[in-house]
Amino acid sequence: DWTMGAYREEAIRQIKEQVGDKQVICGLSGGVDSSVAAVLIHEAIGDQLTCVFVDHGLLRKGEAEEVVTMFRDHYNMRLIHADEQELFLGELDGQSDPETKRKIIGKLFIDVFQKHADTIEGAEFLAQGTLYPDVIESVSFSGGPSVTIKSHHNVGGLPEKMGLKLVEPLRELFKDEVRALGRELGLPASFIGRHPFPGPGLAIRCPGEITRAKLDILREADAVYIDQIRKHGLYDEIWQAFVAILPVRTVGVMGDGRTYDYACALRAVTSVDGMTADYYPFTHEFLGETATRIINEVKGINRVTYDVTSKPPGTIEWE
Ligand code: XMP
Repeated sequence: DWTMGAYREEAIRQIKEQVGDKQVICGLSGGVDSSVAAVLIHEAIGDQLTCVFVDHGLLRKGEAEEVVTMFRDHYNMRLIHADEQELFLGELDGQSDPETKRKIIGKLFIDVFQKHADTIEGAEFLAQGTLYPDVIESVSFSGGPSVTIKSHHNVGGLPEKMGLKLVEPLRELFKDEVRALGRELGLPASFIGRHPFPGPGLAIRCPGEITRAKLDILREADAVYIDQIRKHGLYDEIWQAFVAILPVRTVGVMGDGRTYDYACALRAVTSVDGMTADYYPFTHEFLGETATRIINEVKGINRVTYDVTSKPPGTIEWE
């Protein structure tokens, strides 16, 4: 795509000009936006960029390893893998209110990011994968879930607090253009096409209290569900799909024994921007096969339900 090729060249030129010989820090979430921003900036200034990847213990199966492998080993970026699972899960212990969980995660995220950023000598810039719609939204939006949606992502207020200037090379782009730029930069298609993943991660897919045991079960079930969706060629038709582990255990039978394990809910929606959504009309065969696989393959779950709520009146996430 020649347009994106030209955009890439111009963006690189501008980043070089803006940054000079100074150091840049970038919060890498593993999402498309921050990844494309990081790769673009790395192409412009190489080792003057350090990425900080905060692992809050609320990521999906294999996710942390994927991010580290891709950015550190494949792209040769300077990457700090901040493994802060103990800290986050410790602070979340016993908390069940959705907004309290979000606040705890958001605050710790900023603390941890700042702690690691402080170790980077001479950092003057903070890179963010802010898109054009974020620029508009932060000005015009009032009320509703969107306020919390963004509170975690763009480490709000942090640049001023740390005395950093912003580098935002995607500010003029829409999501599909960011994906095109990502392809232009050689990011794998499977990565670019990934469903959005919320900042608070699995915390909001584990309604009620979060425990390590529940998170482990959730990760396994989610991996089976996504595998099913990919195998049936449905991944790209869906905006977001995930499992929520329910805060309830139910009775079942398996072999000649009684089980008493968690129930889970499968969620899949189509959407254009996440503001409204329709539940995805899977076939009964798909749902039945997926339920069987999850119950057979995931220890700790003995009941699978499918969420047929659209947004509104539901939200996409369970919390
Ligand atoms: P809801 O659940 O509000 O989700 O219908 C709409 C979109 O926003 C994502 N989401 C979040 N993203 N921090 C985030 O970064 C959050 O606290 C948060 N809550 C929801 C959700 O995954 C969906 O794409």
